Amino acid sequence: MSDAYTAAWKASIDNPQGFWLNAAKALDWTKAPETGWNAADGWFPGGRINTCHNAVDRHVAAGHGDAAALIYDSPVTGTIATFSYSELLEEVGRVAAMLASLGVGKGDRVVIYMPMIPHTVFAMLACARLGAIHSVVFGGFAPHELAKRIDDATPKVLLTASCGIEGSKVIPYKPMVDEALRLARHGVDHVVLFQREQVTAELAAPRDLDWMELREKTAADAIPACVPVASDDPLYILYTSGTTGTPKGVVRDNGGHATALTWSMTNIYGIGAGDVFWAASDVGWVVGHSYIVYAPLLVGATTVLFEGKPVGTPDPGTFWRTIDRHGVKAFFTAPTAIRAVRKEDPDAKFLGEIGTGQCQAIFLAGERADPDTIGWLEDKSGLPVIDHWWQTELGWPAIASCVALGDLRRKRGSAGFPVPGYDFAILGEDGKPVPQGHSGSVAIRSPLPPGAFRTLWNNKAGYEKNFAGFPGYYETGDAGHFDDEGFLHIMGRTDDIINVAGHRLSTGQMEQIVAQEDGVAECAVIGADDAIKGMIPIGFVVPRAGAENDDTLASRVIAAVRADLGPVAALKTVYTVPQLPKTRSGKILRNLLRKIVNGEQFDTPATIEDPSVPEMLINTVRR
Ligand code: COA
Ligand code: AMP
Repeated sequence: MSDAYTAAWKASIDNPQGFWLNAAKALDWTKAPETGWNAADGWFPGGRINTCHNAVDRHVAAGHGDAAALIYDSPVTGTIATFSYSELLEEVGRVAAMLASLGVGKGDRVVIYMPMIPHTVFAMLACARLGAIHSVVFGGFAPHELAKRIDDATPKVLLTASCGIEGSKVIPYKPMVDEALRLARHGVDHVVLFQREQVTAELAAPRDLDWMELREKTAADAIPACVPVASDDPLYILYTSGTTGTPKGVVRDNGGHATALTWSMTNIYGIGAGDVFWAASDVGWVVGHSYIVYAPLLVGATTVLFEGKPVGTPDPGTFWRTIDRHGVKAFFTAPTAIRAVRKEDPDAKFLGEIGTGQCQAIFLAGERADPDTIGWLEDKSGLPVIDHWWQTELGWPAIASCVALGDLRRKRGSAGFPVPGYDFAILGEDGKPVPQGHSGSVAIRSPLPPGAFRTLWNNKAGYEKNFAGFPGYYETGDAGHFDDEGFLHIMGRTDDIINVAGHRLSTGQMEQIVAQEDGVAECAVIGADDAIKGMIPIGFVVPRAGAENDDTLASRVIAAVRADLGPVAALKTVYTVPQLPKTRSGKILRNLLRKIVNGEQFDTPATIEDPSVPEMLINTVRR
């Protein structure tokens, strides 16, 4: 056990105010906070800060303007481009000037629906610079989902690009933006679009504006100053799947977020100025927000923005090539990406040939990391592979081995130990801690540390629900246990959220879409195990009377989910069945369905309405 880890964890729990006030000193504040936390104002009440200043300007002011800030590596376009901190400052400043010219100021929302290109990073930081609130929407979501977010966030401006590139597919974005704005009740003042070489989008004046034309009108010497905001003022809204069809708008503050991310970079990942960090995620997810954009820049490190896939762009060696090429010191990806690489290169020939350069550790998160995948990766790379756990709501890791605090303990199947700042409890249904080794709901004693959400946009009640199940605790929605050595094991969700290829989705939301399809009387969508994606959704539909012979029903349902939620939902299998397994009180036995599609043993529940249904379902699934 590492003394440094134990001391840090204890200090953070015994004296959270002192611990985090001390951590906050790593940042530039326009008004330094004197208090750690209070219930009304969150972390660092009275403190004033600008996140963009801390991520960009101050490094230039400190004489590190020539240091590399951002490396854009895009195997799908054959581009590699590096932006120094000075260049990043100019680019961010110009986008800030563009937004300011459109009337965007402190507290205004800006929706960003963009691919993995540097302009997306410029845009996020430009919003932070102005004190505006960005809301990045992942490109794999369909117009309908984008519309929901537009209606909830009510942005002044929407930033987009002419296309995204998904492996070998070029995906035009403008038609999706137009459709979303057609569906949305809220109208934006302007759509600002970055034209990429691969697609030229049509712009409709006066609403639509060309990004580069607007940029031309700004001047390098007239960059808007960073606007100081209260520590608790929102930096961004990031929508994530909840248990209903309505996404939850997680609101991130400025001061707590910058403090927590800075602390995590130093003490979990061991990254500081001069180091190169690469999180192979997408800026549309929390991992992208925290560890592609903000955290590496806050500590003055170099971040890699990778526009590609783990495989096929061009081959399963792309991760190792990128790590080696840029001298990446720590690499972060999702287990599903490693499983995809392994499938195409089981003997790790690419890894063997290319190596991992200066990389010292590989971090995995986003879904449960199966011991076999960790074993393969450790064996083939010779590097420590650190599973760690967190959520959009928290914004940064809560369970990990804090490598940089000298804690390299790990056990395959466990995500590690509570990170300083987090006081975990495993609770039974009665809200009381269960004995060590027993499974229960994974909860975190409140208040949550800096960086964690303090509200949901337009939905304070929804936020409070997370704390209502177990008074005094935040309910993570995950189930797990502590083992006898203190390792925390996360075993799955207690609700209907599933992780598909590291993407968080709600089966409840899919059910809502399926239920609305013509000819569907009843339905269930469950998460089944998948060798590559970890989980995939599987649908069961009972046709309405008269629709029994509709061969197209399953394909219509699949198409509806793709059209409404987006391709990222990855619903590809739907079974048409005469009946669903139900209890006598009418509750659908989703757990039974899950076991049937996974081919697991099960006991038919005594409460089942019709005991012949499981056998019928087994035959349907086997067919
Ligand atoms: N824009 C538009 N479409 C997108 C998209 C985006 N940004 N991202 C994904 N999609 C589409 C894909 O093209 C695919 O469409 P298809 O059904 O027409 O093939 C669908 O959404 C599902 O995509 P994905 O889940 O990425 O599956 P895949 O089979 O294309 O790739 C993996 C599988 C494992 C390689 C890929 O999922 C992956 O790299 N996962 C890692 C994810 C990750 O890093 N998550 C971050 C959490 S830390
Ligand atoms: P997201 O908010 O998209 O980051 O998803 C958070 C959820 O992903 C968690 O509640 C877990 O269910 C799951 N998750 C994330 N990381 C891990 C991990 N290391 N092990 C197991 N589950 C994880």
